[in-house]
Amino acid sequence: MENAVDMKKVASLCKRRGIIFQSSEIYGGVGSIWDYGPIGVELKNNVKAAWWRSYVYNRNDIEGLDASILMHPKTWEASGHVTSFADLLVDCKECKKRFREDQLKKKVCPECGGGLTQSRRFNLMFKTSIGSVEGESTDIYLRPETAQGIFVNFVNILNSSRKKLPFGIAQIGKSFRNEITAGNLTFRSREFEQMEIEYFVTPEEDKRWYDFWVKERLDWYINLGIRRENLRLREHEKDELAHYAKSCHDIEYNFPFGWSELEGIANRTDFDLRQHARISGTELVYFDDATNKNITPYVIEPSGGVDRATLAFLVDSYNEEKVKNEKRVVLKLHKELAPVKVAVFPLLKNRPEIVEMAKRVAKDLSGKYKVVYDDTASIGRLYRRQDEIGTLYCVTVDVQSLDDKKVTVRDRDTMAQDRISADLLKSEINKRLEE
Ligand code: GAP
Repeated sequence: MENAVDMKKVASLCKRRGIIFQSSEIYGGVGSIWDYGPIGVELKNNVKAAWWRSYVYNRNDIEGLDASILMHPKTWEASGHVTSFADLLVDCKECKKRFREDQLKKKVCPECGGGLTQSRRFNLMFKTSIGSVEGESTDIYLRPETAQGIFVNFVNILNSSRKKLPFGIAQIGKSFRNEITAGNLTFRSREFEQMEIEYFVTPEEDKRWYDFWVKERLDWYINLGIRRENLRLREHEKDELAHYAKSCHDIEYNFPFGWSELEGIANRTDFDLRQHARISGTELVYFDDATNKNITPYVIEPSGGVDRATLAFLVDSYNEEKVKNEKRVVLKLHKELAPVKVAVFPLLKNRPEIVEMAKRVAKDLSGKYKVVYDDTASIGRLYRRQDEIGTLYCVTVDVQSLDDKKVTVRDRDTMAQDRISADLLKSEINKRLEE
């Protein structure tokens, strides 16, 4: 079934509420490059923190890494990206627009109907140069995947952490691809973030761990609130596998623009370690105590896109409801992901004692997560604003609060309100967030 959420409405909400903006908008923008606003950065950070907690903190067999974006140019020869990381592109002879051949339904320009050129291979990597002496610079690439930073550090991490197989290395960071297809907000961006694990196993155990990671990653999205019916697994056909992969499953999400890849889980075999060992001349092996032999481990790679996951969480949580004959737009985000956990309002902003108490309550709650104080509209408007960004709790200080020292706490999903002593508010909210 199609996802009924209107992508245009999500995009407009993103702009209106400071979630996602087009990059360099005042100059007319840059295609397929995006900025995250004050609410978007909280949401994206929460997605990354949830992933990091699940794998680097909750498991003892995975270590974290933050490798650099620029790497030795030979990295990309070894990985195969210089020769294989390309799309077949065609240009329109009339309007000069460029398209991916595999995405065209007919052999004419989809924009103006003009004739198309023969297809040419177009490498997706961004090239820049490195060096401080004019004329002596070297070409270097912005990484198109974070994975290679993990492979080239394999021995460093093995030697410093003393891990035994199976073990993983996890990394979150920016990647860059000179993508041609635009549209659908952040779905296919030229600058984006990946969250990748390279999980090293003995060659005999690759299938077991491959199956484990496919299920684990699917469950991760479900546990963070994505509806099961909006997720599906799709196994790659042999002819669509990346040059390094023996097998690959995509986790697809039912986006309003159709089922599309959220994450790929691939069996990369020992391809990358062997390639880097060959090109660099450094041994990249693991000493197996059981057999007294060096082995080159196989790698199972769950590779997710932070921006795609963030977009899927946004779309899946988008709800329109009728409340007292008015439309309520609410993002029913999982509590771990909600950008703002609590918003505090004074019921009357012309009563200094109420304003002062509300500000004190907000300050008291602040520190561990994003808390907002707002007095720039009526209570109804303030609730609506917070619902639209998925704020979990709205706290109101009113006249009665001055006497009984209690505040009203409204729950985002049920809209139920209860009164809680201001002194106990922080511990009560923290308890609800941890439940
Ligand atoms: N290391 C393996 C790898 O990079 P991939 O399937 O090319 O595999 C993995 O990318 C994930 O990265 C994708 O499933 C997607 O979530 C994200 N991704 C890839 N290209 C992207 C783009 N242009 N914009 C946003 N996310 C992208």
